[in-house]
Amino acid sequence: MADPNFPPNLDIAPLALDSTHSEDQWLQHEAIQQYGIAGRIWHATELLMQYFTPGASFDPPCSALLTPSPKRIIELGSGQSVASLHLAKSLAPSDTLILTDLPNVMPLCEQSARKAALPVNISPQPLAWGSSSDHLDPHRPFTHVIMCDLIYFPELYPALLFTLLDLTRPESITDTPTFGPEIILAYKPRTLALEHSFFDAFGLYFSMNPIIGGDSLVRLYSCQRWKINEQWEMPAMDTVMNGAPGVERGRDFGYIDQLFASMEW
Ligand SMILES: C[S@@+](CC[C@H](N)C(=O)[O-])C[C@H]1O[C@@H](n2cnc3c(N)ncnc32)[C@H](O)[C@@H]1O
Repeated sequence: MADPNFPPNLDIAPLALDSTHSEDQWLQHEAIQQYGIAGRIWHATELLMQYFTPGASFDPPCSALLTPSPKRIIELGSGQSVASLHLAKSLAPSDTLILTDLPNVMPLCEQSARKAALPVNISPQPLAWGSSSDHLDPHRPFTHVIMCDLIYFPELYPALLFTLLDLTRPESITDTPTFGPEIILAYKPRTLALEHSFFDAFGLYFSMNPIIGGDSLVRLYSCQRWKINEQWEMPAMDTVMNGAPGVERGRDFGYIDQLFASMEW
């Protein structure tokens, strides 16, 4: 497969965050030359940084800040890793943050982790979606999975969904309606017609509850695997978008509840 970070006619510029200095802008410009899409800081970062700030006003608040340590947090497609490294500032030394990306993007993740110089166990690890994650077994079970602006190229959706199922694979069958790590999913809608197919398939396996707060065009969700039963079989990557047997899907009411609560009758 061609490098997804260098599609034809790529024309992107650094993203200026409130906190970035001109030197950071220049470094981002250089990273784009070297890593293409992965070298840029993407839009959902800004809202995630707010969400990952202690005391920020989000409903529900960020569980990665509130739940007891040790936490084992994994980020997919980390690239510059700005949002997850911001979260790491509030983590405890016993917590682990695993930054992942394509093997050829690892130097960027390693550089970001080194520059952050935080007293938390930050471990950059290669993870191409759709490939084995066995090398991450020592860090399982994960408590959180972070996804920052990863839903954009439809050809990547099956591999991304496959990896999400793999990282949240059950250790046993639970009685609760949902189980497994919390997926914190942030993304900026760009072409809804294309993005819809990802969420259609994602909803076959995962509950999705909106997180309300911040003033942004970025969407933020807290997601978790729907309960499974004895019929569950991990789908192959070429059928993963069609669902799999043994998932007991519930219904997400979070968004509707929020909507009705804010309506004036
Ligand atoms: C739009 S960028 C987002 C980067 C970062 N999360 C952010 O928001 O600034 C998408 C990221 O996904 C990674 N990516 C793309 N295809 C991938 C694949 N097949 N396996 C793993 N990572 C992939 C890219 O290298 C890039 O870092």
